[in-house]
Amino acid sequence: MTSSDRPVSRRRLLTGGALAAGGTVVGAAAVAASTRDAARPAPAPEQVPVAATVGAATEPFHGVRQSGIVTEPQAHAAFVAFTLRPGTDRAALGRMLRLLSDDAARLTQGRPALADTEPELGLLPARLTVTFGFGPGLFTAAGLDERRPPSVAELPAFPIDRLQPRWSGGDLLVQICADDPITVAHTQRVLVKDSRPFATVRWVQQGFRRAAGAEPGRTQRNLFGQLDGTANPKPGAPVETAVWIPDGPDWLRHGSTLVVRRISMDLETWDLLGRTDREFSVGRRLDSGAPLTGTAEHDEPDFAALGPDGLTVIPDFSHLTRAHVSDDRFRILRRPYNYDGVPAADGTADSGLIFAAYQADVEKQFLPIQRRLAERDLLNEWTTPIGSAVFAIPPGCPEDGWVGQQLLD
Ligand code: HEM
Repeated sequence: MTSSDRPVSRRRLLTGGALAAGGTVVGAAAVAASTRDAARPAPAPEQVPVAATVGAATEPFHGVRQSGIVTEPQAHAAFVAFTLRPGTDRAALGRMLRLLSDDAARLTQGRPALADTEPELGLLPARLTVTFGFGPGLFTAAGLDERRPPSVAELPAFPIDRLQPRWSGGDLLVQICADDPITVAHTQRVLVKDSRPFATVRWVQQGFRRAAGAEPGRTQRNLFGQLDGTANPKPGAPVETAVWIPDGPDWLRHGSTLVVRRISMDLETWDLLGRTDREFSVGRRLDSGAPLTGTAEHDEPDFAALGPDGLTVIPDFSHLTRAHVSDDRFRILRRPYNYDGVPAADGTADSGLIFAAYQADVEKQFLPIQRRLAERDLLNEWTTPIGSAVFAIPPGCPEDGWVGQQLLD
């Protein structure tokens, strides 16, 4: 064996030598070709002429906590949910997560993955983060059902839901975020390829926010034109309390939970509304994002203020009133991305929000808000949840470790 064969051999070892045997499209010839190509040295980062600031920026992969949660949201995201193959047990999950953690550790730092078939695409991390989440099925596959946090389970059904299996559930989630869409696409490709022996792709949701640097420090807008993210818990103590699991077993401490809801937004009927009605439905102004009782985005809303007609200035059934939480312990960290699919032939938009919410406890934080919104929220008229999934977010890992090690090793 030559030294240049090693990366591929190590990969085959980690995947249990199952690249071609996993019932996938990877045939022997393809494996041979990728082995040959992988033997060629990857270009060194210094061969890249000018690494622009956005492209060269990195976020850490190793650490006590996973990145991609309180990380300033990047411009592009792919949420990739996998279904584990029958036979992917605790040991196989360990091999899989060791491999995917290794890929993520390299790509997030601007180094191609081992045996990367397009190594040039691994050189610009653009603040890439790869965040792993464990769905209920992963605990079952690993024979560890007793360790699953009870609220990491399918959410109760809400009357507003029109859930489609193609956007729901998942045993393992990989949230890939970066300020560059090619970086996201390449990372997705690498992680999906390396997952083949262990899992199949269940769904992928790709989304975007404003481009990096387009509006630094500003709250992003969703496709209804609203400023979206204003009332998130603030950095420091509020976000600490809201997001991170403070105690419990080793494998959960410094972890979190994630709810991903795909919510379609009916732009056709929203377009028919005047500005006043649009602002009433949320309780904030479209231009500044200020509450209807204030003038600046971060003014505190005054839910008791009455207008000349004797009604509350912020309607009682506005999204703001119904979603509002003032105690940091019960807030959620919203990290949503817009999606915008191909319009129908008649021009009907396929747009919405990949609503991603991080919180320490789904039962205590996310569910009470979702219950209130499902019961009464003016915005429901124009929004429909069409996908839903819940994941436990394990803590991060040290340089010589891998994500999930505390649970699976
Ligand atoms: C397509 C669906 C949705 C849209 C378009 C939307 C839009 C908005 C907008 C414009 C705001 C005001 C600005 C801000 O603070 O970000 C807001 C606030 C908020 N939303 Fe949503 N939202 C949606 C779904 C949800 C869901 C499903 C939940 C949770 C179950 C949620 C929870 C919240 C919370 C907690 C706030 C902050 C309320 C406060 O404390 O002031 N939203 N949303």
